[in-house]
Amino acid sequence: MKAVRFHEYGTPDVLRFEDVDQPVPGAGEVRIRVAATSFNPVDGNIRAGYMQGPIPVALPHTLGSDVAGTIDALGDGVTGLQVGDQVIAALPLTSVGAAAEYALAPAGLLAKAPAGIALADAAGLPLVGLTAWQALFDHAKLTTGQRVLINGAGGAVGGYAVQLAKNAGAYVIAVAGPGSSRQAEEAGADEIHGHGIPELTETVDVVLNLAPVTPEQLAGLVELIRDGGVLVNTTVWMPAPSDERRGVQGINLFVRPDAGQLARLVDLLDSGALRLGPTRRIPLADLATVHAEAATAPITGKVVVLPAA
Ligand SMILES: NC(=O)c1ccc[n+]([C@@H]2O[C@H](COP(=O)([O-])OP(=O)(O)OC[C@H]3O[C@@H](n4cnc5c(N)ncnc54)[C@H](OP(=O)(O)O)[C@@H]3O)[C@@H](O)[C@H]2O)c1
Repeated sequence: MKAVRFHEYGTPDVLRFEDVDQPVPGAGEVRIRVAATSFNPVDGNIRAGYMQGPIPVALPHTLGSDVAGTIDALGDGVTGLQVGDQVIAALPLTSVGAAAEYALAPAGLLAKAPAGIALADAAGLPLVGLTAWQALFDHAKLTTGQRVLINGAGGAVGGYAVQLAKNAGAYVIAVAGPGSSRQAEEAGADEIHGHGIPELTETVDVVLNLAPVTPEQLAGLVELIRDGGVLVNTTVWMPAPSDERRGVQGINLFVRPDAGQLARLVDLLDSGALRLGPTRRIPLADLATVHAEAATAPITGKVVVLPAA
């Protein structure tokens, strides 16, 4: 089968579209015929070798933690799933990924695929949807009536974070650039501000930082949080600052696969309470071009990567 792998860390040209053996599911695993994986910004950092500490991978490595596809084989001991089931998952970032025609996944990480959208496009949901969910509910413990500021609201995680926070009954303040403020508006943000530290009339309970700002800007966002509030930061190359004097807690988020949370996101999509973000499709053979694009400027929307021509 075909896969995109890198044998050494480096620039996007280390990615090779090559033949590899079809994987065989072990106990507790399924094999998925991949409809698509997706590109996440962290993929570029893994390929470049910047994440060898927090996300160690074995070389050659196949990228692609998101997967959407059809179960094609079951390993020993897998129950409750059948060949032919359409599923999605976020795979652990350290595992062999899904930038390939077939991928293995632990059965316990799978959720049924959303019903109302193309299976390939559903590959854009797991990692960013789970990041938004875990930031808001596991870490910030957002509740109805709270005020949340989302910095980077026009991005892939941000689009889901705005919708989920609105669904939870929060007042949502979005920070987004001119190219993505429309997405924040369509997602339901109550206020939209351009890049920088916005001038607010009231403090917020929660700040989510999803943007590649400087440590100084991140510290500036902490000033907007009420005493006892929370900053959740996904750009973990810089630590989330706290303000102990005021009881403001800074939290570094490391997303984790969670089939139950993913199933809830799928239910929200199926019910129309959540909308899929803007999605672009590319063939697997062109994955290196997306890495090259992302190395020069941020990618807009989700890019899903299809092994089938
Ligand atoms: N730690 C983890 O487990 C984890 C998990 C998932 C994602 N992440 C990280 O979280 C970040 C967001 O992920 P993503 O997939 O949503 O990426 P993305 O789609 O590239 O979104 C980032 C957004 O930040 C905005 N932005 C850029 N500069 C900004 C600034 N100075 N102020 C405010 N916004 C700015 C960009 O939009 P505009 O310029 O149009 O505003 C962009 O849409 C990435 O850095 C990703 O690597 C971490």
